[in-house]
Amino acid sequence: MEEKVIRELRDLVGPEGISLDEKDREDHSYDSRVKGPWPEAVVWPRSTAEVAGIMKSANRHGFAVTARGGGSGLSGGSLTVRGGVLLALDRMNRILELDPVDMVVRVEPGVLTCQVQKAAEEAGLFYPPDPASREISTIAGNLAENAGGIRAVKYGTTRDHVLGLTVVLGDGRTVRTGTRTVKGVVGYDLTRLMVGSEGTLGIITEATLKLIPLPRAEATLVGIFQDLETAARAVNGILGRGILPVALEFMDRTALMCVADELPFALEEGQGAFLLVEVDGSPAGVREEASVIAQVLGEFNGRVAEAADQREAKELWAARSVVSENIKAVKGAKKAEDVVVPRSKLPDLVLGLEKIGRDMGLLTAAYGHAGDGNVHANVLYDPETDKLEKVEEAVARLLRLTLDLGGTISGEHGVGTTKARFLPWELGPEEIGLMKRIKDVFDPKGVLNPGKIFPQ
Ligand code: LAC
Ligand code: ZN
Repeated sequence: MEEKVIRELRDLVGPEGISLDEKDREDHSYDSRVKGPWPEAVVWPRSTAEVAGIMKSANRHGFAVTARGGGSGLSGGSLTVRGGVLLALDRMNRILELDPVDMVVRVEPGVLTCQVQKAAEEAGLFYPPDPASREISTIAGNLAENAGGIRAVKYGTTRDHVLGLTVVLGDGRTVRTGTRTVKGVVGYDLTRLMVGSEGTLGIITEATLKLIPLPRAEATLVGIFQDLETAARAVNGILGRGILPVALEFMDRTALMCVADELPFALEEGQGAFLLVEVDGSPAGVREEASVIAQVLGEFNGRVAEAADQREAKELWAARSVVSENIKAVKGAKKAEDVVVPRSKLPDLVLGLEKIGRDMGLLTAAYGHAGDGNVHANVLYDPETDKLEKVEEAVARLLRLTLDLGGTISGEHGVGTTKARFLPWELGPEEIGLMKRIKDVFDPKGVLNPGKIFPQ
């Protein structure tokens, strides 16, 4: 980037708001999975007006702008693959307003997801979206990626909890979308278009989020089964009894073995699938639902346990939260996908993944959100001895199988750079063409997060 452009940006955000230092550039050159090229400059705006100024400058001079929140994305969305400016939104981190009567919270983009949850809880309210990264991910990162997480079965994903946004478009104009009310049907739903657009249409600089009353009670149960088909049947058994749990998580045999040491009980020979179920609501309702769930898990010959108290529940969830890291440690590296299939096809997908692994001589592991069919399908490999092409071929077979089963290749992590080449596997030329035309309307110069979603 030319010196005069850097000067222009410095005038906009002040000397503290921009850095060309190697360390700052390197620190902002990765997300949690992928390492990318360094940005040419890191810029920290403090207001919507500053973001708008930066985007106008980008349109005048043609440099790329890529927004970044907590850097916990899993598809390369925040990588500056075309250089230019990395727009770090972590200094716009205020909770602007929490209204307990309207039950909304208005936030700046860089607030951590867990801080939104905490602020809501302190007011007796609940912000349900709960991605595994909530301690480090920012709210606008969640919005840009439409983050999912464990509570999607009952409460939906990030998309279902956003009412309105302030967005600086790719062309530098600022728009407000949505409403402050739960209902609102005036005009096209630009809020939904923006959520999950992976930072390619606009920069979210403010969000009004919907809150609900905090459930008064919850219970966590675990069921251990011989195999995954039985566990999957138990999932449908629970839903079939008219119960909608908050979370319904599973692990296959390999994943389960990886967290055996973290579990509050010992595993026995032949136990090959794990279900973690959480329900919430009124104290009496939770008790009744927990006993029905225990009964259903038992009907499928599961070994059933209910967390006696919050400490035990925390231990069970802690095992779930380390599974991703522990799986990676088995071979040293992993390709971790986030495919989704209709719930009925869950066993086909997991058995299909095992078969791909067997056929190709690779170890696989699956865990994830059984309640909504969202599977974290992992191909584990040794980066020293396993050929990367072989691992990638296994991933391609998995994605093909997912689509054959009527699923989608990404349920919560997004397309970014990692899945761009597979986009035409799922979407037709008409749909991709329409999306590209939308992109052109919002960002005619193509300066906003270039190189993402669409195959290059
Ligand atoms: C999880 C992340 C990887 O569910 O989506 O753990
Ligand atoms: Zn997940």
